[in-house]
Amino acid sequence: MPQPEPSGFIRTLNRMGYGIASLAALRNGAAVVANDIDARHLQILRDRAPATLKRRLTLMPGDFPDGIDFSPGSLGAVLICRVIHFFDGPTIERSAAKVIRWLAPGGKVFVVGETPFIGTAKSFLPTYQARVKAGAPWPGIVKNVAAHNPKRAGNLPSRMHLLDEPTLRRVFSNAGFAIEHLATFARPDFPPDVQLDGRESVGLIARKP
Ligand SMILES: C[S@@+](CC[C@H](N)C(=O)[O-])C[C@H]1O[C@@H](n2cnc3c(N)ncnc32)[C@H](O)[C@@H]1O
Repeated sequence: MPQPEPSGFIRTLNRMGYGIASLAALRNGAAVVANDIDARHLQILRDRAPATLKRRLTLMPGDFPDGIDFSPGSLGAVLICRVIHFFDGPTIERSAAKVIRWLAPGGKVFVVGETPFIGTAKSFLPTYQARVKAGAPWPGIVKNVAAHNPKRAGNLPSRMHLLDEPTLRRVFSNAGFAIEHLATFARPDFPPDVQLDGRESVGLIARKP
């Protein structure tokens, strides 16, 4: 079993497009492996990183979770920020299963995703609520984004998967994680039409036992 890096040299898989979190982690002494399916986003991160930090930055373009891999137990922390709301249910389950394998014992996963409580999904909310009532396993799947969000559909995939606390709790608990923190939170940084009632995003922090 590979040993985790000593603390202060925590390897992170970071899914920031342009690297706000990656740069902060690098400045705090972490070694960062930055992944994005679009290599141009990673190049922006690389260009923004000062030379002294670049030595600890590895770019890993590829399709998470199926197109990239790490040795078991080789990561100290994984940030999956605003990405799994593009995945279907089984892909989210594979993401959690892969991440727990990659993490060292005691390592943590940090997940952020959009919820059904965003201003641009108002017309989808009744469908979501009916699915929750019926016990649907993936109540936040939006099959036709253009019908619910015509203004932004051009910049979004045709399917979205808006996430809630019960869904994240189930998937990450079933994968073997101990949930440390799980809550919705407000996004005052989002454009006004995407904001709704202070529950626009959901965040999870979970530990590999
Ligand atoms: C909404 S942006 C989020 C960017 C950043 N993490 C943030 O929180 O602002 C989604 C990012 O995920 C990337 N992405 C989408 N699907 C992906 C996949 N399967 N594997 C890796 N990256 C993916 C996109 O290229 C894009 O940079």
